[in-house]
Amino acid sequence: MKIVDSVAGYIKDRPAVDVGFVPTMGALHKGHESLIRRSVAESNITVVSIYVNPTQFDNQRDLAVYPDTLAEDKAILEDLGVDVLLMPTFEQIYPDGFRYQVSESEFSRELCGAHRDGHFTGVLTVVMKLLNIVRPARAYFGEKDFQQFQLIKDMARTFFLDVEIVPCEIVRESDGLALSSRNLNLDACAREKAPLIHNLISGNSTDDEIARRLAIAGFDVDYVQSRYGRRFAAAKVGENPVVRLIDNVPLS
Ligand code: PAF
Repeated sequence: MKIVDSVAGYIKDRPAVDVGFVPTMGALHKGHESLIRRSVAESNITVVSIYVNPTQFDNQRDLAVYPDTLAEDKAILEDLGVDVLLMPTFEQIYPDGFRYQVSESEFSRELCGAHRDGHFTGVLTVVMKLLNIVRPARAYFGEKDFQQFQLIKDMARTFFLDVEIVPCEIVRESDGLALSSRNLNLDACAREKAPLIHNLISGNSTDDEIARRLAIAGFDVDYVQSRYGRRFAAAKVGENPVVRLIDNVPLS
């Protein structure tokens, strides 16, 4: 696996073949692995980026405690047969200091957007930059972040980007907890409670009833909402650090 730590270097030697791309913020888990496996199976070469994008963090504490498992990540990527690992710096990604931004004014304000000021502007801006740097035929995104996937897909169509945005199913622990890099920050008590989100949103209770039961169990609930044929939930759990978990399921 080639490790490229320079955007200019990547662009200079940009592969002229069918590229599959998996953008990540590291702390790789089996959810990332499923995206990468799919890219490796479908593409001539697979490029993975690891870049913890500060502009999408509305909460500096969340950024400060974001897990970093770089040595393990590299071993996983080697094992999976990834061709290029791109690891840009803030200065390379934001030579403009984030003066130029990609924003969306409707869907990005719902659900997570209603609770994380500026989050999706940070996500869309960095993904637009990464897609323009890597120029993949396909880019793979997990459906745990369903709103993110939908906004990126819509952005690609809106800006006539020549890339297919591919959704990949949520990967779960055996107790139902959706895999997330932030799960590494759950203490034993929070980890025990965490599967309740999936357990409840998969059942027949109303959104309000689920929110109430999560609150009783000690979650600080951002939302439980059924829309667009899915039920979405976000809630914080744990104390040091507080971990924000999100999940969604299709409504039957
Ligand atoms: O889902 C993520 O890990 C991030 O939001 C992404 C897409 C890599 C952009 O920083």
